[in-house]
Amino acid sequence: MTFPVLEGKVAIVTGAAMGMGAATAELFAEAGARVLAADMNEERGRDVVRRIEAAGGTAAFHGVDISDSAQVEGMVRTAVDTFGRLDTAVNNAALTPDDRLTAEFDEDYWDRLMSVDLKGTALCLKHELRQLVAQGGGGSIVNISSVSGFRPQPANPAYVAAKHGVNGLTKTAALEYGPQQIRVNAVAPGAIDTPMLRGALEQFGFTEEEYAPQLSLLGRFGQPREVAQASLWLASDQSSYVTGSVIHVDAGYTSR
Ligand SMILES: NC(=O)c1ccc[n+]([C@@H]2O[C@H](COP(=O)([O-])OP(=O)(O)OC[C@H]3O[C@@H](n4cnc5c(N)ncnc54)[C@H](O)[C@@H]3O)[C@@H](O)[C@H]2O)c1
Repeated sequence: MTFPVLEGKVAIVTGAAMGMGAATAELFAEAGARVLAADMNEERGRDVVRRIEAAGGTAAFHGVDISDSAQVEGMVRTAVDTFGRLDTAVNNAALTPDDRLTAEFDEDYWDRLMSVDLKGTALCLKHELRQLVAQGGGGSIVNISSVSGFRPQPANPAYVAAKHGVNGLTKTAALEYGPQQIRVNAVAPGAIDTPMLRGALEQFGFTEEEYAPQLSLLGRFGQPREVAQASLWLASDQSSYVTGSVIHVDAGYTSR
């Protein structure tokens, strides 16, 4: 059972068509939020909205490329036009990590990844913060970082740099907007069983059995909903004295 800790609140979740974003949109709706599920993938995004509605929740889909400022502004406007206001957002959308050593990195993919994972997250923050300030302050924003924002793996230089950047961005926005009672935090997931992780396993030729024990003190991959639970706590008033923090949901990977 999910407690209705977001009853009456309006939430945006980016990257909501699959993986952790889909799990977050579904959990937030179960907790009472009206959810704008935003993603580039319209077909799968609309599937998520249908699942939420079938379960008795309220959601709408919005197509967005978070690397485009005008589209992100439109996303926030749609949330307000559809549901009346904005209370919380989970900036989750990101591209699959790069796969080359630093001396070999692909400059085109570097630019694309930075424009989505770092600038796209910043654009979401920018337009969400403007809306929260215009409403008179208050609200909670959650950025999705990664263990890669703390502990690099080899051959992901762009992704590692972008996720370190997301941590810095989170802390900067937290200190700038604390006086307006807007909280900004991040969640740093470990190895979570999503299409992104499955793609990486296939790319490097690893199996879950050989890889999971290296990445998790619990010896297994996490489930998307286990990350969504941390975002739910941060989005809700249950975490009212928490801002500028990065919460690790990584089965101890960064503690070892
Ligand atoms: N899966 C993991 O093990 C893992 C670990 C640490 C951090 N993360 C982070 O968690 C978040 C979610 O990861 P996931 O594994 O669920 O990813 P995923 O690839 O399964 O899903 C990502 C979603 O983002 C959407 N998206 C991509 N680019 C977009 C853009 N420009 N605009 C709008 N939507 C876009 C995709 O369409 C997709 O629906 C990401 O920020 C990722 O970096 C994942």
